[in-house]
Amino acid sequence: MELEKLFELATEVANRSYSPYSKFRVGAALLCGDGTVVLGTNVENRSYGLGICAERSAIVTALTQGKGDFRAIAVSTPDSDYPVSPCGACRQVLSEFASKDFPVAFGGADGRLVKTTMGELFPFDALHELAGK
Ligand code: THU
Repeated sequence: MELEKLFELATEVANRSYSPYSKFRVGAALLCGDGTVVLGTNVENRSYGLGICAERSAIVTALTQGKGDFRAIAVSTPDSDYPVSPCGACRQVLSEFASKDFPVAFGGADGRLVKTTMGELFPFDALHELAGK
């Protein structure tokens, strides 16, 4: 599946974001090895620090569905007029399941889609020696 299509799905699911505190919707679409796409949104909490990002929400959902073989991720932030890249915590969590050449795409509402890789976003893979790879 094209990253553009994956990004469209991420943009659609951003409408399901639960983000009453930041009012910043985020959608993530994770392409799995079986061709299916697992979606995630950010889910905030009145205890602010407990919010979870869209990327991690998609990863947790996929693993819960028995899907652990990921091929690409797209992240959409329709409330920004520029592309917003995955946060540091999400990069760390993604790195558990993604190789250096894993495609990552992200974009905001301005129509630009940044296409990069896990290796570019997270060149020094923290604690990689514990990942068993
Ligand atoms: N957020 C994500 O879901 N993913 C990102 O990559 C950036 C930040 C969420 C966290 C919080 O709910 C809101 O966006 C504002 O930071």
